Amino acid sequence: MEIVLTKNSKIKNVDFENLEFGKIFTDHLFVCKYSNNNWGTGKIMPYDNFLISPSARVFHYGQAIFEGMKCYRSDNDSLILFRPDENFKRFNKSSTRMAIPEIPKNIFFDGLTELLKIDKDWVKKGDGNALYLRPFVFASEPSINASEAIEYTFMIICCPAKSYYGNQKIKVKIEEKYSRAAKGGVGYAKAAGNYAAQFYPTSIAKEEGYQQIIWTDSNNHKSIEEAGTMNLFFRIGDKLITSPTSDSILDGITRKSIIKLAKDSKIHVEERIITVDELMNAQNKGELMEIFGTGTAVVILPIKTFGYQKNDFNLPDLKNPWSLMLKKKLNDIQYDRSAEYENWKLKIS
Ligand SMILES: Cc1ncc(COP(=O)(O)O)c(C=O)c1O
Repeated sequence: MEIVLTKNSKIKNVDFENLEFGKIFTDHLFVCKYSNNNWGTGKIMPYDNFLISPSARVFHYGQAIFEGMKCYRSDNDSLILFRPDENFKRFNKSSTRMAIPEIPKNIFFDGLTELLKIDKDWVKKGDGNALYLRPFVFASEPSINASEAIEYTFMIICCPAKSYYGNQKIKVKIEEKYSRAAKGGVGYAKAAGNYAAQFYPTSIAKEEGYQQIIWTDSNNHKSIEEAGTMNLFFRIGDKLITSPTSDSILDGITRKSIIKLAKDSKIHVEERIITVDELMNAQNKGELMEIFGTGTAVVILPIKTFGYQKNDFNLPDLKNPWSLMLKKKLNDIQYDRSAEYENWKLKIS
């Protein structure tokens, strides 16, 4: 791998206590290009703008996918990537759906680990602190022919992050008009266009006072799918219910980790379709105890209020919510305070 280091590190000018998510990037990036049916040699170079043709297919047909993962610094200063194998598998699953060539495992992992070794000072200690890693690939071939490209660029950029919504509880709206994903579509892929398509309905929800949307199925808006960049969990009575992953729901890595940790804690977990009717019934009977979202950016985010058909419903304020208990368990693994699930941690040395 070729490595070109920056002569002007930006780190001294960064206020790590007041970070706005996704605005500040570390000193270096990783890049690797695909042409002539082959991935080339990867390169680490200073983070900077780059040249790209206005006819690059990504701008016209949106052929691009990405991943989101985090590196944590433990109390004794090890750097830990959380379940990166899962991100790697999902990266290629998303690529395949978007007719992008799969990236070889060694390029993905060499890029990540070398970049982390070089930019390690950007991974700060302490709960909520992490380095967010964004591997992505896009069709860089200059051509506006509406078919898949023959040239691609893979990159990894990193930004220091604090937890996404801090400790606030959010207000979400159950969507009844717009859809995020359809059967047979690309909802299970981290395709760039899935996110662009959410912005307009989410901006309407924001005007109405909600931070996020709970997406429902595209056929009749009866079953609950996921929210923004989170999978959803519902505590009804003494059961924890989450929708099964499908071709319209992203197979979240936090989701599968929380299912495992909840089962370890003897919580009864059901992965099955949950309808809005069931949710409203539980709410009316006083059995709906918690709703929380799970995702790399937020880890676990409790939902305080949900809106449905122009009415708002508040969740009870519990003394010991499952969301907090599970978040602590997961954080303890991520920050290496717990010796459990060693196989979920990739330590960078
Ligand atoms: C649409 C969507 N759902 C769910 C998630 C949560 O997935 P993960 O836990 O792997 O971050 C994400 C974030 O990656 C997402 O973009």
